Amino acid sequence: MAILVTGGTGYIGSHTVVELLKKDYDVVIVDNYCNSKPEVLNRIYQITHKRPRFYEIDCCNEVKMRELFKKENITDIIHFAGLKSVAESVQKPQLYIDNNIGSSKVLLKLMTEFGVHNIVFSSSATVYGVPDHVPKVGGCTNPYGQTKLDIEYLLKDYAKEHKDANIAILRYFNPIGAHESGLIGEDPQGIPNNLMPYITQVAVGKRPFLNVYGNDYKTHDGTGVRDYIHVVDLAMGHLAALKKLEEKPGLVIYNLGTGKGTSVLDLVKAFEKANDLTIPYEIKERRPGDVDENYADASKAYKEMKWKAKLDIVDACRDSWRWQKNNPRGYDKD
Ligand code: NAD
Ligand code: UD1
Repeated sequence: MAILVTGGTGYIGSHTVVELLKKDYDVVIVDNYCNSKPEVLNRIYQITHKRPRFYEIDCCNEVKMRELFKKENITDIIHFAGLKSVAESVQKPQLYIDNNIGSSKVLLKLMTEFGVHNIVFSSSATVYGVPDHVPKVGGCTNPYGQTKLDIEYLLKDYAKEHKDANIAILRYFNPIGAHESGLIGEDPQGIPNNLMPYITQVAVGKRPFLNVYGNDYKTHDGTGVRDYIHVVDLAMGHLAALKKLEEKPGLVIYNLGTGKGTSVLDLVKAFEKANDLTIPYEIKERRPGDVDENYADASKAYKEMKWKAKLDIVDACRDSWRWQKNNPRGYDKD
């Protein structure tokens, strides 16, 4: 009776593993460290005093994954493993297709082979494409988003063929924040693409100022509005999804967000206030592909799983900063 967490040493995976261990789930992690570090496992131990079993395997490697399934009694899977850089996916679409879709296909094949019925999949708000008044999937603006949508279709087909399968597709909005211990957090390699890690790197002196991409959007202050969700709330959403799957619901889909929109400058101000710091910024050209606003209707997740976000952007700003301040070089040792 073990939960297999693919990508469990990554940003969202590590926070979810901590919450699973706190609730005494038996956790098996598989990760190939393509975007994470072994040190994460020590940090998970420091927080929980537990060491989940760990396999350094590429999830696309069917032979090695089969060995893992033979050894472990997997009952549920949370599938975080995937590449997630929008910019890189535009440069290397095939890499994203091979890795993201390839790893999902291997898991589905092994689920059938080993009689595993339950899987929770990390999808993304990106599947909504350019948001309209009525959210609808499709029109993905980049290859990364397309892989998420393609995997959603794979899962839907799988559910049609396997009536005993229970699948939760979770569409995340913008995860930020870190565990309150400051021991685990987001550790982007190179220049961060996303807003919060860029802000924390300015705060820690790694970058001189924040580039604010555009102040002429149709929003209250002209800067882009997003739905920032604390990563621990997001982690709890996975525990809620596992509980939901115990009801054998077949395939279910939920947005995981707060339902609240926050602009770039709102987030900067919240960060400054929460941490008593100043974040210098410069207004720059719009970033290609960005939209005015994108936030979640997460009411279905509450109605059907009793999950809702409990933390706010102030909590996230405080926790992101604690993580960055305590780990100026991320998981790399000084
Ligand atoms: P992350 O890069 O921190 O974690 C992903 C982990 O998967 C990493 O540890 C990486 O080493 C591992 N991995 C990737 N490919 C692998 C493979 N083939 N085999 C084994 N391990 C592999 O990313 P994250 O932010 O924690 O995101 C987790 C999931 O959530 C991803 O699927 C991502 O697309 C999705 N998601 C993330 C966000 C976000 O903003 N962070 C938003 C929406 C969806
Ligand atoms: C991006 C991805 C999305 C992914 C999400 C979470 C794109 C087009 N979309 O969403 O697929 O699911 O990250 O990982 O890349 N901003 C700045 N300065 C910065 C960085 C960002 O002003 O240095 C602004 C952006 O213009 C945007 C907001 O901050 O208005 C949020 O940006 P970001 O954190 O990159 O997330 P998204 O663009 O929403």
